[in-house]
Amino acid sequence: MPVVPLKEIVDRAFAERYGVAAINVVNDLTMEAVLAAAVRERSPVIIQTSVKTVRSIGLDLLFAMWRETTAGIEVPVSLHLDHCPDRDVISACLRKGWNSVLFDASSLPVAENQRQTIEVVAEARSYGANVEGEIESITGVEDDVGSDEAADTQSLPVAIEFIRATGIDVFAPAIGNAHGVYHSEPKLDAQRVSDIVAEQPIPIALHGGTGMTDAQFTDLIARGCAKVNISTALKVSYMKANLDFLRAAEERNSWDPPSLFTAVRGAVLDMAADHMRRFGSVGKAW
Ligand code: 13P
Repeated sequence: MPVVPLKEIVDRAFAERYGVAAINVVNDLTMEAVLAAAVRERSPVIIQTSVKTVRSIGLDLLFAMWRETTAGIEVPVSLHLDHCPDRDVISACLRKGWNSVLFDASSLPVAENQRQTIEVVAEARSYGANVEGEIESITGVEDDVGSDEAADTQSLPVAIEFIRATGIDVFAPAIGNAHGVYHSEPKLDAQRVSDIVAEQPIPIALHGGTGMTDAQFTDLIARGCAKVNISTALKVSYMKANLDFLRAAEERNSWDPPSLFTAVRGAVLDMAADHMRRFGSVGKAW
């Protein structure tokens, strides 16, 4: 089964300048639907779990779902723990078999963040796993992690020093992006991505993908954003597909749960496939 280290997926995407969708799933249905989209589109994909999802489903059951839904899969896939400030959860996921983790110590002073990220990278390496790092929190609360206050950005030399000293595999800068729903088109500092990549060629994670325009995706991916995070779009398509189906079921007074699951799976699969097409990863499976 081609469950591969995250680095294999993002390094190739970075070299060839396409983006790989990194989609936060919330249960077995959404995990399977996103994987099915990758298979249908012959695309690599990164499945992300928030700490909230790990806690609500439980580490063992969530990983069993991953193992079963990826058994025999024929496209490259990777399991990633999204924004995690808790070192115990990081260790538990690495021990269990997650392929990578985002150690989110962005609320700590950079020096302390850097010191701990070095430890997390060493720990991940002992499992053949990878690490995404960040030094500025991404605006917006996602699954109970983060803040709606825009964080200060660090200087380019501080960011480069952090990347080099820690040996992280993916870097997530704040560039005006935010988690959740944008109320107007976000103003993004694309040049910051180019400046970082010019100094230190490293795949960049683009957070807050939901609601960005095609032109923004194309531009940022060309500059080095190889991992493109999508969470809110899945939540919206999942909830709205449920709502639409249940409204129609009430109208018809017809109650068949498997039909509900089929309808919701289709909506989530189409949402994921649409992002893969927009990011240029269709047909890039190896
Ligand atoms: P959105 O919720 O805006 O899609 O952002 C996802 C994300 O960045 C997850 O870390």
